[in-house]
This record gives sequence, structure tokens and C-alpha cells, in this order.
Amino acid sequence: MNFLGIDLGTSSVKLVVMNEEGEITTSVSEEYGISYPKPGFAEQNPDDWWKGTKIGINKLINEKGINLLDIAGISFSGQMHGLVALDENGKVLIPAILWCDQRTGKQCDYLNKEFGQDKLSKYTGNMALTGFTLPKVLWVKENKPEIYKKIAHIMLPKDYISYKLTGKFASDVSDASGTLMFDVENRKWSEDIMKLLNIKEEVLPKVYESYEVIGNVSEEASRETGLSIKTKVIAGAGDQAAGAVGTGTVNSGVLSVALGTSGVVFASSEKFYVDKDNRLHSFCHANGKWHQMGVILAAASSLKWWVDNINEDGTQDSFEKLLLEAEKSPAGSRGVFFLPYLMGERTPYNDPYAKGSFIGLNMTHKKGDMTRAILEGVAFALRDSLEILKSLKVDMKEIRISGGGSKSALWRQIIADVFNLRVSIINSKEGPAYGAGILAAVGVGLFKSVDEACKTLIRTTDQTEPIEQNVIKYNKHYEVYSSLYACLKDKFKEIDNL
Ligand code: XUL
Repeated sequence: MNFLGIDLGTSSVKLVVMNEEGEITTSVSEEYGISYPKPGFAEQNPDDWWKGTKIGINKLINEKGINLLDIAGISFSGQMHGLVALDENGKVLIPAILWCDQRTGKQCDYLNKEFGQDKLSKYTGNMALTGFTLPKVLWVKENKPEIYKKIAHIMLPKDYISYKLTGKFASDVSDASGTLMFDVENRKWSEDIMKLLNIKEEVLPKVYESYEVIGNVSEEASRETGLSIKTKVIAGAGDQAAGAVGTGTVNSGVLSVALGTSGVVFASSEKFYVDKDNRLHSFCHANGKWHQMGVILAAASSLKWWVDNINEDGTQDSFEKLLLEAEKSPAGSRGVFFLPYLMGERTPYNDPYAKGSFIGLNMTHKKGDMTRAILEGVAFALRDSLEILKSLKVDMKEIRISGGGSKSALWRQIIADVFNLRVSIINSKEGPAYGAGILAAVGVGLFKSVDEACKTLIRTTDQTEPIEQNVIKYNKHYEVYSSLYACLKDKFKEIDNL
């Protein structure tokens, strides 16, 4: 018996095959692009996701020799918050509006100010942020009324793949939490939001726990992909909840930090709670419980921007060369600060106008100082979320790190030093895709619960301890870092009006 984890990411879809021992035996991926039709817009065509998934399945058969009849269950991890809108025949109406799209400033202002943040928080546990799904629904209603009228189904990105595989409109509690239409505490769509904003509940998919079976592969999908109609399809989770399952972040005491395109600090909790001012997201976890998280919009993508656009040619060699130069710069980057707000910022500022910035440069600085400042700036931005978790007295002993950026030993050390916590990496490097594989195995009944699966399968393999003198230094630097946004906030907005 094997399991297929499908991680529908922002830049690619990755498919991993996991055996009954929880080992990833094969992995393939297929890339697709993002289109940025206007500043602040970010879109993808859902049919490119499906095409990429089918190519991935084909590679599993033809390049990796996988027998699809052995796949007992399939589950998902997905980029969150994207609006996928289908007509009554299940056809895509408009390109999906992605999690990093910033077009909904006006709709968020309406929701937080006129409709009321307190009401939103009471009904959904969260406030309106530009990336979330509900403001995008309102944007379509206002800007594309003819499309809005035709919407028969709304869903999240990974749910489009489960729809194509099963013919069913389904989502899961963790991903639904990021729509701002979901009653996170009671794990169901919020009737109050539907009523007050005049949204028909029929357009929303049926919601499952992340480890529940939503159906089998349909005959049509079986013909298209070669998968068996006996294979069960399990709801899956948003990428952060799936990633947390994949690193075993299912109990208190352990935080997950993801250094992917976005950057996340994630804490699992037994109970639902909302922090003052909704600075953190309060979402359902994929194990039947809840979690709180802070999200920064440009983590590893800040480094990628630096490599691709400013410095080198974006090859692995150029990444490595820059990181070697950064290693030569001391902790604190000799006084250079980087604010990683290249896409605006979510936690803690919720500010689509915020901009990326280097501060503190003088004639002696070198490229290595600036590269190191990027790694540190991302760590400081994530520490903003850590400080909120600390103020909530969240128990934290260790960090489990994942995502592309976690491959860098230097970045892991910087995170350990800036957070003053031990950073562990675990036996699987697949993060969210591994989490999806685990959810599939739980759904098929190989494990009694997600927690049991994590306890059985996940071990830490390497640990990075904080270095005391760096911790002291970074505490001082963080104080300066965290005061810089307030100095620049108004100017960021002015720049847009020049
Ligand atoms: C989480 C979030 C990101 C995206 C893309 O709230 O926005 O994790 O899902 O990775």
C-alpha cells in the first residue's frame, strides 16, 4: 500500500509517494508560472494546476515506475486563500486570485471598518487581510458583476484538484479557515457572514476534517490519469497546517517555522483562541485542533529576488556563492538592515503599501553584508510573530524548520540566534507534501489519528543551538529593526502616490 501526497504550491506542484513505513520513496514536480497583470495582482489558471498534476502523475508512472494501483489514498497540501470560481458546469470563470494578490485594499477597509473587525473576529476568529478569500469575492462582485452572477462554486486551489479527481466540491477545515467565511471555533461555514454579506451558502464546498475521505477517484479522472477508482481521496490541508503535520508540529511546545515563498511561525493549540487585535491568524489545524500563526509575505522569495533580479543569474551556483559571501559577514551584517516587505506585509502590520528596504549602508559595506541582512531581516520579521506568541504565553521549547530556505545552515543558525531557540530539522525534508502523505495514510486507516501518525513517523535528525553572543547582539538589532517600520510607514504610502 502506498500513498500519494500532492502539494499544490505557488510555483510548482509536487507529488510524493509514501510507503506504509512513512518513507518517501519517490517525488516529482512540475512548475507553472504566476501572472502579474497589474501591480499588486497575482493570478494563476487552475487548469494549469490540473495539467501540472497530470504531468506529475505521468512522470510517476513513466519515469519512476510507480504502479498507480498500489496507491490506497491521495491527499493534498495547498497554497491557501486563493479564489477559484466555477460556473454551474464546473468550468473556471476567471483566473484564480492568489494568496499574495494585494488588490483588495478597499474591500478589506470596508470589512474591517464599516462591517466591523469585531464582528468579523466574533464570527470567524480573524480580521480581513488582502490575501484572504472573502475580500476577493467582494472584489469580483464590485468589479466583474457579470462574472459574479455566474459563480456557482467557490473553492480553494487544492480543492480544484480534488474536484477534478472526484467530481465533488469539497474543502477542509484548515484551508476554509483562511477564507474569512468560516466559523473557525465551530469548524463550519459562518451563517452570520453569509447572511450579512448576502453570499449563498450553496456556492461553498462541503467541509471535511483534513484526514477525512471525501470520495474515490472518479471514472473520468481514472481514464485521464491512470489512477484506480478504488483509490480514496482525502480532504487534505492548507500548506501551513499540512507542513506542520509534516514536521510533527501537532502539540504545544514545538513551533513550526517555514522558510518558503512566504514565511510562517506556527503554534499548535488544544483550544481555539483569538489574540487581541487579530494580529495572528486563528485557524483550524489538520489534526482536529487549532493553530495560531503569523505570516510574512516574502521570506525565501526575498533571497530569490536578490539572486534573480539584482545580483546573479538565479542558478543554484549563484545562490551558493551569495550564501558563502554572507557567511563572511558577522552577525548583525555590520549594521545593514533589510525590511523584507517586497510584497507589502501581513503579520504584524497588515499593510499592502509596505516596501522592501535596505537601511544603514555605508562605503565599507559589501554584497555579503547585504545578503546576510536579507537573511536576518526575514528572521526579524518572523520574530515579530514570535513576540506575539510569547505575549500569549505560548509554550515554546523548540522550532521545527522547513521550506526551501531551511536548506541553508547559515539561515538555520540565524533563526536559532534571533529566536533564541533550538532549531531542529526532521527526517523528511518534504514538509507540506509529507504532511499530505500522512493525511492520506490517516484517511485510509493506517493510523488512528494525525497525532499518532506524527508520533510514529517523525524524528528530528539535526539540531542547531543558539550561540549566546549572537543572541545578545540580535536582541539589540531586533529593537532597532522593529522601530524602522513605524518611521517609514507613511512614506511607503506616499511613494505609491508619486
Ligand atoms: C498562509 C499563506 C501562505 C500561502 C502560500 O496563510 O498565505 O502559506 O498559503 O504558501
